[in-house]
Amino acid sequence: MADLLREETLDDLDPLRHLRGSADADDADDADLVPAQPPSILDQTIELTFPSDASETVSITLAVSASPGCGGIAWPAGEVLSRYIARRGPAYFKDKTVLELGSGTGLVGLVAAKLGAPRVWLTDQAPLLDTMRRNTALNGLAPPVRVAELNWGAPLPLLPRPDVVLAADCVYFEPAFPLLVHTLAALVPRGSPSPDPDPDVLFCYKKRRKADRRFFALLRKEFTWTEVLDDPDRDVYAREAISLLRLTRRQ
Ligand SMILES: C[S@@+](CC[C@H](N)C(=O)[O-])C[C@H]1O[C@@H](n2cnc3c(N)ncnc32)[C@H](O)[C@@H]1O
Repeated sequence: MADLLREETLDDLDPLRHLRGSADADDADDADLVPAQPPSILDQTIELTFPSDASETVSITLAVSASPGCGGIAWPAGEVLSRYIARRGPAYFKDKTVLELGSGTGLVGLVAAKLGAPRVWLTDQAPLLDTMRRNTALNGLAPPVRVAELNWGAPLPLLPRPDVVLAADCVYFEPAFPLLVHTLAALVPRGSPSPDPDPDVLFCYKKRRKADRRFFALLRKEFTWTEVLDDPDRDVYAREAISLLRLTRRQ
């Protein structure tokens, strides 16, 4: 408990310190952040490829820049989730409406669109909208990709009901924990009258610090979860404290 209180005090002083890998060295449970690009990156373009089924490869061109905030660069859990859905291949996205939360650059949703998802919504806060639009255009994916502002905890924008919800590297800022849980719950309403199954929620998480357990304590009130086991890369990213979870709404 003393550890958590100390963490909170440090968070108040510097809320984004975990994203800069500046967690306390004596907090042995905390994995360092390993961004794919240095955080000082400004207006660069990177190419990412993900093997898909049937020996196909999904290639994405991504404009990255730290200037609009932490979401302007591609984060490790986003790459893990991109690789996983690419492996699942086009069949997983056939006729599916996809919504990505905290998209940042839009990477994961763009991979879903490249795989053939007919409707993809990239969502994030206002400063990231231009980045997501730019990356959608760079990859020639508008349509099927559209971009919308979605602030966790706020009422959902008027978007079609998703069949698949994707979220990667969205657990890092403690004040946003209840907001993110609120939005996840709103996207998978309890006792929904819809005849369709609940959305498949794939949630890729990188553990950074002990206080993350508070996110999962909140999440547990609304969802249960299981680890995605059919990913051959699982042992590799588990060593980087990354896990890929499937969330199921408590009824
Ligand atoms: C660490 S970045 C991950 C970006 C991307 N998913 C990836 O894996 O590369 C976290 C993202 O969550 C977004 N985010 C943080 N707080 C948010 C909020 N309250 N509402 C909506 N998005 C938020 C940030 O803008 C950022 O794009």
